[in-house]
Amino acid sequence: MGGPLDFRMRTRIVSGTDSMHGLGRLASELGGTRALLVTDRGIVEAGHAERAAGSLRRAGLAVAEFAETRENPTTRDVDAGRESADRFGPDLIVGLGGGSAMDCAKGINFVHSNGGRMSDYWGVGKAARPMLPMIGIPTTAGTGSEVQSFALISDAETHVKMACGDEKAAFRVALLDPSLTLTQPPRVTALTGLDAIAHAVESYVSTRRNAISTAFSVAAWRLLAGNLDGVLRNPTDIEARSNMQLGACLAGLAIENAMLGAAHALANPLTTHFGLPHGSAVAILLPHVVRHNGATRGAWYGELLAAGAAIPGMPDSKSAAGGLAAFLESLTRRAGLETRLASMIADRDAIPRLARDAANQWTGKFNPRGMTEDDYRRLYENAW
Ligand SMILES: [Fe+2]
Repeated sequence: MGGPLDFRMRTRIVSGTDSMHGLGRLASELGGTRALLVTDRGIVEAGHAERAAGSLRRAGLAVAEFAETRENPTTRDVDAGRESADRFGPDLIVGLGGGSAMDCAKGINFVHSNGGRMSDYWGVGKAARPMLPMIGIPTTAGTGSEVQSFALISDAETHVKMACGDEKAAFRVALLDPSLTLTQPPRVTALTGLDAIAHAVESYVSTRRNAISTAFSVAAWRLLAGNLDGVLRNPTDIEARSNMQLGACLAGLAIENAMLGAAHALANPLTTHFGLPHGSAVAILLPHVVRHNGATRGAWYGELLAAGAAIPGMPDSKSAAGGLAAFLESLTRRAGLETRLASMIADRDAIPRLARDAANQWTGKFNPRGMTEDDYRRLYENAW
């Protein structure tokens, strides 16, 4: 797996139970004196926002809070946050929450420090001026946004999801505190956990894979596949929680270096048109993508099974794509999530339109086996 490589760690990763106590110190180290805390209502209600603000204030920082981010953030959320930033004048931004809050923090940073509109930054490397330093604190174990330089922001009018990436938009520090994930409802643990597993599996076989990204994918796969059952059975198991959080973070690093594949291309239109939770859509489609890719990439899936051989219930590596797909389905079922599309949406006639949309998803271009619109249609049918 030689070939060209350009790898740099942009984000310092600090992980440990109650590590959020150190937030103020980390912010000071970055030169912060005025912090804008970007979060959402649920995080405020759980008391996490106040704990974060307290640590920042104890370190001498002035703090303003923007808690209006919503799931799948839009340009409207970013614009509202930007008003807060323009009023307060922060020299540091803290993103506290799931992927949505962290992405919104990045979006606010783009338009606050570089001006213009969110759509001006759609693509890669569009920010000409420096951006404020940021600290990312995930409260789920899922997206890995804390180590990615991309913000996914939807256009509030057209609903198009814009991927806005710039190395300056990467968090300078990712603060992983597993105690923040203890308050999660079991369904959120299941949805975000299966999404993270899909990140490990898709990035491992993508066309952009390299020696470093695959190391992250495998480490993430072991941590995630080996601990999801455990955190669902025993939600207060802090070590299992920490393993899930680190696994999701490593999977995020794998994506940053290798991108994703067809399962995410299939999942996105289901969220856009039918409001399916991202984790659920990905969990339903991934086994079918694995079977499809298995025709040419079975050996790579066998490597994942071999890497997870110590995990109870892991199929023999010789079973390759078929074994991996069956394992993923049983994991989804045990997590209490649906495995068939028919139980989630009523309108089977929507499949051709969904397939057209899936074929236009950027993320599908990195799938190891070329995908046509007809392939996407067939995979939706298989998952029905
Ligand atoms: Fe995902």
